[in-house]
Amino acid sequence: MESYKNLLLLIVLGCGVLQSCAMRAEVYDNNNETCLYADMELQFTIKYETSDKNMSTSSFLLPSNVSTTGSTCGDNTTAPLLKLDFGDGHSFTVNFTHNQTVYHVDVITFVYNTNDSLIFPNASAKGVFTVASKVTMPDLPMDDYYKCVNPEFLIINNVTMKFSNVSVQAYIKDGNVSKQAFECDADTPTTLAPNVTTHAPNVTTHAPNVTTGAPITTPVPTPIPKPETGNYLVKTGNVTCLLADMGLQLNFSTTKNQSGWKVINIVPNDTLTSGTCGIDTSSLKLQENQMMVELVFAVKNSTKFYLNGVNVSISGQFADSNNSLEYWEASIGSSYMCNKNQNFKITDNLFLTTLDLRVQPFNVTDNKFSTAEECFLDSDLSFLVPIAVGVALGFLILLVLISYIIGRKKSHTGYQSV
Ligand SMILES: *[C@@H]1O[C@H](CO)[C@@H](O)[C@H](O)[C@H]1NC(C)=O
Ligand SMILES: *[C@@H]1O[C@H](CO)[C@@H](O)[C@H](O)[C@H]1NC(C)=O
Ligand SMILES: *[C@@H]1O[C@H](CO)[C@@H](O)[C@H](O)[C@H]1NC(C)=O
Ligand SMILES: *[C@@H]1O[C@H](CO)[C@@H](O)[C@H](O)[C@H]1NC(C)=O
Ligand SMILES: *[C@@H]1O[C@H](CO)[C@@H](O)[C@H](O)[C@H]1NC(C)=O
Ligand SMILES: *[C@@H]1O[C@H](CO)[C@@H](O)[C@H](O)[C@H]1NC(C)=O
Ligand SMILES: *[C@@H]1O[C@H](CO)[C@@H](O)[C@H](O)[C@H]1NC(C)=O
Ligand SMILES: *[C@@H]1O[C@H](CO)[C@@H](O)[C@H](O)[C@H]1NC(C)=O
Ligand SMILES: *[C@@H]1O[C@H](CO)[C@@H](O)[C@H](O)[C@H]1NC(C)=O
Ligand SMILES: *[C@@H]1O[C@H](CO)[C@@H](O)[C@H](O)[C@H]1NC(C)=O
Ligand SMILES: *[C@@H]1O[C@H](CO)[C@@H](O)[C@H](O)[C@H]1NC(C)=O
Ligand SMILES: *[C@@H]1O[C@H](CO)[C@@H](O)[C@H](O)[C@H]1NC(C)=O
Repeated sequence: MESYKNLLLLIVLGCGVLQSCAMRAEVYDNNNETCLYADMELQFTIKYETSDKNMSTSSFLLPSNVSTTGSTCGDNTTAPLLKLDFGDGHSFTVNFTHNQTVYHVDVITFVYNTNDSLIFPNASAKGVFTVASKVTMPDLPMDDYYKCVNPEFLIINNVTMKFSNVSVQAYIKDGNVSKQAFECDADTPTTLAPNVTTHAPNVTTHAPNVTTGAPITTPVPTPIPKPETGNYLVKTGNVTCLLADMGLQLNFSTTKNQSGWKVINIVPNDTLTSGTCGIDTSSLKLQENQMMVELVFAVKNSTKFYLNGVNVSISGQFADSNNSLEYWEASIGSSYMCNKNQNFKITDNLFLTTLDLRVQPFNVTDNKFSTAEECFLDSDLSFLVPIAVGVALGFLILLVLISYIIGRKKSHTGYQSV
């Protein structure tokens, strides 16, 4: 059922069944030269409520035929803007910001229209909804394009965006698209906590006496290692009541306008675990030096659990929380699992990145995880291809059969008339 719906959406939105669904959009300046382009596959997965009070999930790809009307190259006063309108009133928008040496994506906005009954059948709340967020994308040197082949996920409330095969460049000069790529972390080979013994090197760097007209130093990106996966548990007495395996990374901004992001990995070995277990609320508290991360889980309708709250404080630097989240939903008596690297928006200033995630905050039996309910992201749309091929083949066979029967009938009648 679910897969049929997705297949239908793929076809209807104009992506060929067997061709890739990459979208390429370019924005031109007054001289008809490219100033901004984006090439990517983008899959949206949206949770919405249906008229029978159930939650439904719709998943579809950004089609290749989008309208770029409303996009601009930007000038001294306005930021470059890529606005892609598609389907029945949906749009995906990205704007950029820069200084003399670097630029980065500023805000990503996605607008969806639940009146589109093809994508949102039976939606109870019909209307136009918007999710938007500043994003934690790295600074790109001017004249570089951003490249990320591996999938990256951005999750804001009910909307999950999966980006893959991304190439994006803004501020293109003279219409010449760059060949110099800035590669994302996800593409750089697994640099899991590089085992480099960094004794502070003994090089006494006297500030060099170079005063030769402000050298343009392109910022060297320091890749952030992937967080290590920790195995955390909470006990009541001698019985384990909460289990959580995950790699956890915090992206936070200490400034009100999110001008710079800091990244911290939770190091499991240095982490003190505590928490509480209740009938309808449980919590996991991780403390590492001056840093505290608390995850609060709640129960919905005595059948489902979900991540309801995240509370982070980093002594002297940062403190923020949100207690009205609805992430990581699964049935009570099972565990929630998501191996993919996911980036969850918690607040404007705080994102949580997880990988190899598996949690069970309620009804743990025998100190071990129960059956896992896997996140949608772990299964990608590639499973649709065999189905699509099957359907196409089926059609073909049917067609041949019908023409054969018709042919036979014709020749038959033809025979008789002789
Ligand atoms: C811009 O390019 C398109 C085709 O690429 C052409 O039809 C159009 O006339 C050009 N406009 C200008 C102002 O050069
Ligand atoms: C988002 O999800 C929540 C529950 O998870 C639901 O109550 C709400 O209606 C959804 N929002 C939209 C716009 O569909
Ligand atoms: C933008 O600023 C530059 C220099 O600061 C100036 O030469 C140019 O005319 C400005 N362009 C516009 C459209 O204001
Ligand atoms: C990008 O768009 C957002 C929302 O539309 C706006 O708040 C922000 O100021 C824009 N960024 C720039 C650099 O103009
Ligand atoms: C541009 O921003 C980067 C990163 O925020 C900073 O390191 C650099 O010094 C800035 N350059 C200028 C010229 O302001
Ligand atoms: C680093 O490498 C050394 C030897 O190669 C090993 O003994 C040590 O345990 C490693 N440390 C970490 C953190 O992996
Ligand atoms: C580094 O400095 C320390 C003391 O400042 C000194 O004892 C040591 O020999 C130095 N090592 C090297 C490699 O220069
Ligand atoms: C650096 O500059 C200062 C004064 O500008 C000068 O006294 C000093 O000798 C210079 N050092 C080197 C290594 O050039
Ligand atoms: C846990 O504690 C209870 C009593 O407090 C005891 O009966 C039981 O044997 C203990 N179980 C384990 C596995 O130690
Ligand atoms: C963490 O601790 C475990 C067991 O104490 C050890 O096997 C592992 O090497 C440690 N990892 C690091 C990065 O120190
Ligand atoms: C709660 O769960 C029951 C049984 O699954 C279902 O019939 C009911 O509609 C649910 N209520 C809400 C508010 O989701
Ligand atoms: C979960 O635990 C609660 C309280 O211990 C119990 O009432 C409930 O029946 C359990 N649910 C499942 C699905 O095991």
